[in-house]
Amino acid sequence: MVSKSNAGQWARAGVLIGSSRFALTMSQSIVLFGPPGAGKGTQARAIVEATGKPQISTGDMLRAATAAGTPMGLAAKVYMEAGELVPDEVIIGLIEERLRQSDATDGVLFDGFPRTIPQAEALSEIATVGLVIAIEVPDRAIVERIVGRRMDPETGDIYHVTFNPAPPEVADRLIQRKDDNEETVLSRLAAYHSQTAPLAEWYRARDLYTAINGNQDIAAVGAEVAAAVETLR
Ligand code: AP5
Repeated sequence: MVSKSNAGQWARAGVLIGSSRFALTMSQSIVLFGPPGAGKGTQARAIVEATGKPQISTGDMLRAATAAGTPMGLAAKVYMEAGELVPDEVIIGLIEERLRQSDATDGVLFDGFPRTIPQAEALSEIATVGLVIAIEVPDRAIVERIVGRRMDPETGDIYHVTFNPAPPEVADRLIQRKDDNEETVLSRLAAYHSQTAPLAEWYRARDLYTAINGNQDIAAVGAEVAAAVETLR
């Protein structure tokens, strides 16, 4: 069940709830929010397909900059490998630049951004967020998800050794992210609780926060995410 909102159902039933909550339009952006390993990347593809909005993952952008060996990428690598957040000014600069591209004019899907209140404040000045989909997963489930994650470097597909095994034909080329180890994930979780989790209240106060139960199988999470996305229509 989408906890905050029976919003989709109400919207489909034509119920107007006072404010602009249901006057959302497809030109607005969506934020995918949640702890590391919650399943943001896993669910992003279906949202992109359903909405046509491009996915903007700050983690992917930072990893690309690191692989390219840019000064920013090399500086970010130190934070990422320690499981700490990259400084706000770097992230905000990246986002400002990305939003200038032509595919971003009808709203985008932010994946892993914003992650601090200053990032959310900066975002509110340059884009309109219409929906925050928060995939909620307890800490006890996170370590197993992160340590078992494998990525296909050719397609970007995300797998898990137990929960979502790769087909045999791609198994040989799978890689594991350098920060996907037990030690770093504990730092990432600590950063999430101290710096990112307070954003939940920030977005709740703006009536944008829709909580999803992420502690169920991938398809069940996907069904709740799809219902949440429906509220944008
Ligand atoms: P980033 O790349 O954004 O990592 P993250 O937020 O830690 O998120 P993940 O990519 O680890 O997880 P996910 O939620 O996408 O889960 P996934 O779908 O892959 O950031 C990396 C680093 O970059 C940060 O630590 C920081 O240093 C820096 N950074 C990035 N953005 C920043 C920002 N805005 N500000 C500052 N610093 C920033 O799923 C995980 C695994 O679980 C997979 O194996 C998947 O198959 C499996 N899985 C998914 N759903 C389920 C399910 N329902 N049941 C069982 N298994 C599941």
